[in-house]
Amino acid sequence: MDYNYKEICSKIENEGYCLIDKFWDDTTDAEIDKFYENSLKPLIKKTSIDKFGNRNFSVADDEIKNNPFKSIKNSEHFQNLITNILKINNIKISKKLDIHNIIAFQKNELNKNINISSNLHFDAFYLTIIIPIKKTKNTLPGRGGSLILYPNIRGLASNSIFNYTIKLFTQNFIFRKIIRNQFLKKYLNYKVVSSKEKKLLIFYGYKSLHGNEAILDKNYKVHSIFHIYNPHKDSIIDKWIFKRNANIRKNKLI
Ligand SMILES: [Fe+2]
Repeated sequence: MDYNYKEICSKIENEGYCLIDKFWDDTTDAEIDKFYENSLKPLIKKTSIDKFGNRNFSVADDEIKNNPFKSIKNSEHFQNLITNILKINNIKISKKLDIHNIIAFQKNELNKNINISSNLHFDAFYLTIIIPIKKTKNTLPGRGGSLILYPNIRGLASNSIFNYTIKLFTQNFIFRKIIRNQFLKKYLNYKVVSSKEKKLLIFYGYKSLHGNEAILDKNYKVHSIFHIYNPHKDSIIDKWIFKRNANIRKNKLI
């Protein structure tokens, strides 16, 4: 698979995201299927449904065995893809590039018809790549957990404190209500994007305010999400948040 990295970056810059073809073969796809059946599905019975009828859980990196996304992460294609995108964005990588992989399972099981979308946020990592593992086909708009995107509305913060100040002002109830205004949506190039089978969905998670539409009608989606390059990796706040998130994941699987 030969990617045109410049074209990918200009698409992400102009349209807010880019969908590219997968680079792995059918053998890896079969491994992903096996991983879903043998490693992810058995975890379902360890989890519970929340008051809205949703079942959500996730596992990250080495928290699950036989994860085929580990070899995808270490493959030459993937490493070339991410380093070239970062290079074009003038990001110099001195040490080993930090990549955080999350496998997220979301399903609506009781049709309570309560529309709960995931909260809008900026990622800690610059680049986000989503690969679908399994999902409901042909869902009605607003009911299948599609990605909601206000692309590239902030730049890199000069330090962690400044980063969290922006997060504090934007990741709250009032701001989330204001930004749903139709005029602001148009002005900020608001998008709803669906992941596609056999495609990688790429966007700048750090710069883009994003969340997910609700999952309703017994729909489900299982995604592998790569987060790449945390500019504030060594900050105390980031380390604390990572620990807290790991505990949240662990507590959902009891
Ligand atoms: Fe995110």
